[in-house]
Formats: sequence, C-alpha cells, structure tokens
Amino acid sequence: DLEKKVAELKSKIKSYPNFPKEGIMFWDIFSALSDGSSCKLLQSLLVKFIKAKLPDVEAVVGLESRGFLFCFSVATELGIGCLPVRKKGKLPGEVISYEYTLEYGTDIVEIQKNSIRPGIKCVIMDDLIATGGSISAATKLLQKCGANVIGCLVIMELKSLNGRKNFPNDIPLHSLIKYD
Ligand code: PRP
Ligand code: MG
Repeated sequence: DLEKKVAELKSKIKSYPNFPKEGIMFWDIFSALSDGSSCKLLQSLLVKFIKAKLPDVEAVVGLESRGFLFCFSVATELGIGCLPVRKKGKLPGEVISYEYTLEYGTDIVEIQKNSIRPGIKCVIMDDLIATGGSISAATKLLQKCGANVIGCLVIMELKSLNGRKNFPNDIPLHSLIKYD
C-alpha cells in the first residue's frame, strides 16, 4: 500500500532536462503538488514514513527553500516544531553558522540559536539529495548546535550523484523515491 502510493507520487513528478543549466536534469517536486489530492498524498506519505522509521522525532528541520514546504506540513501534522536552516544573513537574532565547501568556493548555512535545545531529536527534511552537500552541511550545523540528528528524510534521491558518500554513515538517510 505504501509502495503503491510512492509509485503514484513518482508518476506525478516531472523532470526537465537542461535546467537550470545544460546537462542538468531538474526533478520538479512542485509538479506533484498542483492539486489537493496530490498534496495530501505527499503529506501523508511523509508523515507515515516518519512515524514508522523515526518515531522519536521532537522537531523537524527544513532546508531553504523547497525543504520548508515539507517541514512545516509534517511538523503541523505531528504537532512538533519546524526549524528553518537558511543561507547566511536571512535569519534574525543570534544564529549559529556552518561553512562548507562547494565545487567553487564555500557557502554558509545558519540556524537560530534559541530554536535548539541541547539533545533535541531532529529530523532534517528536503525535497532532494543530489551531491549531498546541502543535507550534509545541515547535519553538521545541527550537530554543532548540540542537537541529536536522528535521521534525514528527502523525497527524491539522485543515486548517480552518490550524495551518500558525503554523509555521516551513522545517521539514517531515507529517500522515498530513487532515480538511477
Ligand atoms: C536544491 C534541492 C536541494 C539541493 C540538493 O536546492 O532543493 O536543497 O539543491 O543538492 P545537493 O544535494 O547537491 O546539495 P537549491 O539549492 O536549488 O535551492 P531551492 O531549494 O531554494 O530551490
Ligand atoms: Mg533546496
């Protein structure tokens, strides 16, 4: 039943070759959200998945910007907090930062200090893992803050980019849909 629902979701996700750049295949999660029943389907899959695999979660963390959608929706359904990780300079108040290396140069992600209590059991969410750079950086940021990252959940995984190689292997990384 869960498998059937994942297959239904997969059938709704459109891909766009050569976007935003030549040679890149863009998997557009918004194409699976254009009507009410599709939104419900995705939300219920994410919630069921977390209840089954990561039931101890105390807060969900969403990555700017597409991760925010799923983080808020799941948090609301589970009755837990929803914490944003954003690019440098977007969050007010005291923040904790983590700098990481990209193909060219570096990037910095931030979280609000007062949103994290030590040991809080977090699940990090995003729409997609490609190189794994974003989700690995968010995991390191949360760990730097003293949070307990009990797992990550993405909707789509691009297996050919092998994003898992950059990811700490003691933390479960789940994806609903895999693309070769
Ligand atoms: C995309 C996607 C993931 C990330 C995955 O976000 O939504 O967050 O890239 O890539 P990685 O595994 O190689 O890090 P993008 O930076 O395009 O921004 P957006 O979510 O604001 O559209
Ligand atoms: Mg993103």
